[in-house]
Amino acid sequence: MDDKVNNNERMQWFRDAKLGLFVHWGPYSLLGRCEWAFRLDGYKVKEYAHLAEQFTGEGFDADKICATAVEAGMKYIVLTARHHDGYCLYDSQASDFTSVKGTPKRDFIREYTEAARRAGLKVGLYYSLVDWRYKGAWDHDTYPDSVAAMVEQAHAQVRELMTHYGMIDLLWYDGATVTTWQWKETEDIAEFWRSHELNAMVRELQPHIIINNRSGTQEDYVTPERKIEAAKEGLAWESCLSICPLSWSYVPYSPNRKSAAAIVRDLIEIASGGGNLLLNTGPNPDGSLNQVEVESILEAGQWVKRNAEMVYHARRSTLNEFGPHGPNGCLGRWIGSDDPTVHYLAALGWSGKEFWSVRIEGKVESVTVLGTGEDISFRQESFGRLILQDLPDMPTEPLFTVFKVKFAAPPKAQEDYSRAEWIESDL
Ligand code: GLC
Repeated sequence: MDDKVNNNERMQWFRDAKLGLFVHWGPYSLLGRCEWAFRLDGYKVKEYAHLAEQFTGEGFDADKICATAVEAGMKYIVLTARHHDGYCLYDSQASDFTSVKGTPKRDFIREYTEAARRAGLKVGLYYSLVDWRYKGAWDHDTYPDSVAAMVEQAHAQVRELMTHYGMIDLLWYDGATVTTWQWKETEDIAEFWRSHELNAMVRELQPHIIINNRSGTQEDYVTPERKIEAAKEGLAWESCLSICPLSWSYVPYSPNRKSAAAIVRDLIEIASGGGNLLLNTGPNPDGSLNQVEVESILEAGQWVKRNAEMVYHARRSTLNEFGPHGPNGCLGRWIGSDDPTVHYLAALGWSGKEFWSVRIEGKVESVTVLGTGEDISFRQESFGRLILQDLPDMPTEPLFTVFKVKFAAPPKAQEDYSRAEWIESDL
């Protein structure tokens, strides 16, 4: 990769951002049953085109969407410029299936990119390589001309997006493989999409851009989807999670959407592994944000503001070495920072006057509550117990209290060792 800008410098904003807003919106939103409707519900191209004629976007207010993201403490935003259904929310010369040639007569991507920049957000574009309207997407062997045309379209459209909308900070590819086509062992995804050539073009046009790993090449970061999974040390990562568990796009009724607490819990988990949370919302069919989702986003955002010192710049903590199941005591999650002697302990629950974390090797100098600065008294015991004491019976923070723990030197998680001797048993 011909990287014109220093890699670390280029990735810095992304590593510090921690929180971004993902927005899935298109003609499928009219149906209220998933952005995969074209495929799942067996649409024919003409039938789907007819649906798209009813897509007006009259409620789409890019400034409002971006203001919500900013208010929630988000630092970047990613909108579906084109999903697997092939419908472009922008002015493409490579296709007639666009919001400019269609009913809305609006270039939503222009409105969006300009609004995001005005709001101070880093601008991300989601682009699906596959276009389900092409026969070649479903059968590479029988329709080689259709395959060639689809790949050509992808190159042309990515070029348009990288050329006509100013500085783009992030390109979020998707859909390199999502049809029923069974890829053969001899078939290479990157070769199929000519991704090396495609990404070289992108980087030529947008030298600062950050590209995800979904075009068949590794590029800049990995994207665990609907799950939280820290990448190996040194590799940037972002979990994309949807507030609505059923779909990435609008669903009118979905009773177990993520609450603010669930969002913050996810964010804490992700922060402890040094990743980012790309939190997805599915706007209403008209493009306005879904109020139920906005409420959770903003409530979570209030917590983010109270705990900003920890959230932004959160790094993987050396104290969480033992995996996800309460290695340091069930109720706590450790989050690192740029200062190796400062680690944050997020209280996922509360056990009353004392809060225990264990197997912590390192002398603690002070413990304070993040947000209020209140000093917390503590003691350290054998088995690496760090016990915060004299706490109120119930936390005063409405979601999750975060303690800032200052160590005398960089701490370590204690090695696990044989319990047989340790428990001093007579049995
Ligand atoms: C998937 C799905 C898609 C969604 C995306 C979000 O690959 O195909 O509908 O946009 O992931 O991560």
